[in-house]
Amino acid sequence: MTELLNGLKRTNMCGTLRKNDEGREVVVMGFVQKTRDLGNLVFVDLRDRTGIVQLAFDAGVNSSLTDKARSLRGEFVVAAKGEVRLRTGKNINENMPTGEVEIDVADLRILAEAEIPPFVISEKASVGENLALKYRYLELRKAYLQNNLIMRDKITRAARDYLSANGFLEIETPFLGKSTPEGARDYLVPSRIKHGAFYALPQSPQLYKQLLMIAGFDRYYQIARCFRDEDLRANRQPEFTQIDIEMSFVEEDEDVMAIAEGMIKEVFAKCKNITFTKPFRRMTWAEAMNRFGSDKPDTRFGLELHDISSAVKNTEFSVFRQALETGSVRAICVRGGADKFTRKEIDGFSDFVKDYGAKGLAWASKKEDGSTTSSFYKFLTEKEIADIEEILSADKGDLILAIADKKNKVVFDSLGALRVHIADKLHLYDKNEYDILWVTEFPLLEWSDEDNRFYAMHHPFTSVNVKDLDKIDSKDREVLASIRANAYDLVINGQEAGGGSIRIHTPEMQRKMFEILGMSEETIKTRFGFFVDAFKYGAPPHGGLAFGLDRLVMLITGDDNIKDVIAFPKVQNASCLMTGAPDFVEEIQLKELGLDVPEEDK
Ligand code: AMO
Ligand code: AMP
Repeated sequence: MTELLNGLKRTNMCGTLRKNDEGREVVVMGFVQKTRDLGNLVFVDLRDRTGIVQLAFDAGVNSSLTDKARSLRGEFVVAAKGEVRLRTGKNINENMPTGEVEIDVADLRILAEAEIPPFVISEKASVGENLALKYRYLELRKAYLQNNLIMRDKITRAARDYLSANGFLEIETPFLGKSTPEGARDYLVPSRIKHGAFYALPQSPQLYKQLLMIAGFDRYYQIARCFRDEDLRANRQPEFTQIDIEMSFVEEDEDVMAIAEGMIKEVFAKCKNITFTKPFRRMTWAEAMNRFGSDKPDTRFGLELHDISSAVKNTEFSVFRQALETGSVRAICVRGGADKFTRKEIDGFSDFVKDYGAKGLAWASKKEDGSTTSSFYKFLTEKEIADIEEILSADKGDLILAIADKKNKVVFDSLGALRVHIADKLHLYDKNEYDILWVTEFPLLEWSDEDNRFYAMHHPFTSVNVKDLDKIDSKDREVLASIRANAYDLVINGQEAGGGSIRIHTPEMQRKMFEILGMSEETIKTRFGFFVDAFKYGAPPHGGLAFGLDRLVMLITGDDNIKDVIAFPKVQNASCLMTGAPDFVEEIQLKELGLDVPEEDK
């Protein structure tokens, strides 16, 4: 039998009661965590989002009420009224914030009964992800997820407060927009009014925020939902949230970076109690790639990359020689690593780098006794070996790992990832430390062999660094590839937390950029006509950036799965296990939209 509140008002949250509440008459409400029946005495742990408090019942005082307490099962929703009293002696539970008190219950109401949940709602019980996500509302009752979402709220609010205090306006932009080729695949929404036509959900508010600058809003921000139909990874979701920022009359990266840096510092101070006193470090993209093999370097540990191409430039070893035709040979030296890994583990590293396109991994293990075992030294001359070891300052006990490829990108990607993998294995960094830096001067363009054309590395609205303006009219692919952009990323612990750029603000330059990207006059007109037109009516110089809010929350809570900071996340194949989305729809709905789904897909 369930009962009504009937005017009963909650006075306190469960997790907040303390010693100094002794003697107070309180009303708490929540979910039953567990009951303990000790005969005459019955104890019930009651949980709300602030924590757990113990309810106490004594059959000697009130036997019918105690019987009622005995009938409670896990996840029943109840209200309890009673007096806060102190626990004494061994009854004090030091592991609970409310462990010094309990409520001597005088009135208990069962507001809702609950079936036995498909898994235990407790921190310790491990649940398969599919089951947990199917019953997400139950999983979300767990304290760690509740605390993550509470932290997310705190971070969002700190960002809003900071931006508002700095003169930014929060402006919403449409979800139903136009498909504009930007980067990822679009999610499309069919139009009922205009059959055959589609809206696209925004991959980011990029175009709108630039148009807001042209409209004179000067400083804009938005906690913006973005949609990208791309392959998911541990730190990616098909819909995710950005703290999206744009400002006008900014010429230097410094203006935007200063605001963004201030915001991140404020968020860390308010939400994590960490004060960064020094400016965040800056590193150019070229330096980040050369030293760490990544445009989002984790600089909490060394294991830096070294170019050993010069040591083997005339080598007979065909693997290296062929790579050097257009690429390079680079290596890391794991200090004291020779006896840290078994042969099997080293073979495992070879497999690991193959996922990043590397064709193999060359290794040399310099034992303490002066002997060396190696997969590739036998193909090299003594001089070549000596030169490699000199470049790496390799000593007894060290492990050398090298990758050669015709494409530098493959060498960087694979060795950069291996470096992080090994640092994880050897615990080379403190997980609680924050390493934050700006990576600047990204290349403007990225060549795709597959499509035989350039893509914008950031997006097509990014301006050219003045240092390279003279190269923009070149027809030489190498020259174009070397153009640097006014683009920057903020990297936290080896993750891209945010990124942005100073934008192109003249119609001529924007048109030029579209041309370099191989867009025909026709495509520019049909896809971006409205955008290019807007620049004819006076566009202030502007720039901005966007932080991945989900990633920022992950970094602050220390979670390594993005699902843990999102209330209702999607799984690998972009479906929602709770609602079953995406799902088939009624025939009539399809008809209204003028859509025809082949019989075999229904
Ligand atoms: P960008 O595409 O770099 O830039 O995105 C900005 C930040 O958003 C986060 N992010 C993601 N988070 C979760 N899941 C995803 N699928 C995902 N994709 C990106 C990252 C990234 O740094 N309009 C530009 C910004 C600008 O130029 O102002 C943009 O969207 O943390
Ligand atoms: P192979 O001549 O293919 O047997 O290779 C000899 C050694 O070089 C083996 O240890 C391979 O793992 C290593 N190796 C092969 N390809 C590469 C590569 N692309 N980069 C670095 N080492 C490689």
